[in-house]
Amino acid sequence: MEFDLVLQKRKMCRSFRDDALTDAEITSLARAALRGPSAGFSQGIEYLILTTEQDRRRFWENQVDVDWLSRNPSHRDTQAAPLLMVVLSGPTAYLTRYAMPDKGSSGLHSIENWPVPFWIFDAGASAMAVLLKAVDLGLAAGFFGIFRNQGDLAVKFNIPAELIPVGVIAVGHAKSDNRLGSAKAIPRRDPATQLHAGEYGKGSKSR
Ligand SMILES: Cc1cc2nc3c(=O)[nH]c(=O)nc-3n(C[C@H](O)[C@H](O)[C@H](O)COP(=O)(O)O)c2cc1C
Repeated sequence: MEFDLVLQKRKMCRSFRDDALTDAEITSLARAALRGPSAGFSQGIEYLILTTEQDRRRFWENQVDVDWLSRNPSHRDTQAAPLLMVVLSGPTAYLTRYAMPDKGSSGLHSIENWPVPFWIFDAGASAMAVLLKAVDLGLAAGFFGIFRNQGDLAVKFNIPAELIPVGVIAVGHAKSDNRLGSAKAIPRRDPATQLHAGEYGKGSKSR
């Protein structure tokens, strides 16, 4: 698909049909996840990939209880997604990498010295590669935060304590009634307020 069209079509999907994905599609999405940039090539991003109904059910049982679902029935369609990719970020890989001789003078072997946590940046970049690949494959995808039970999730799926579950990407085929999230109510900002030419807030022009 043409790149501009992929960008344009990339919207978070919250309602999926339960049609299965092919192995080739899953492999292609998994490979895309590893094609993002990586600070110092630290490669601290990993994924827990859930494809069986049993594993996906275990994930959702951990995240959503019956009461909550009965108050938010439309979220059942989110759970129909046949593929879940839990984005895991490992800060230790970054601390180790930035302690190596070519990065040693940065002082970034110590977590408090990082002005920006690049392990979270890399997780976002990797997730974006998956979201775009999904569109390229004619599929739909949505990224969701993991707001509860992180500890139980780690135990249930044997995730090492040092990895942060940043969120989950659900991938599948969109239902026709896909719900828009916050973007439904909140207008897109005027690009001139976000793109600053030369100096912040001065002489910005619309692009
Ligand atoms: C870090 C991050 C966390 C998000 N968490 C959720 C979430 O938990 N639930 C949800 O429905 N959408 C979530 N979204 C999707 C945003 O609501 C969505 O990206 C935004 O409204 C813009 O819409 P679009 O991505 O479809 O263009 C998240 C997006 C990001 C980048």
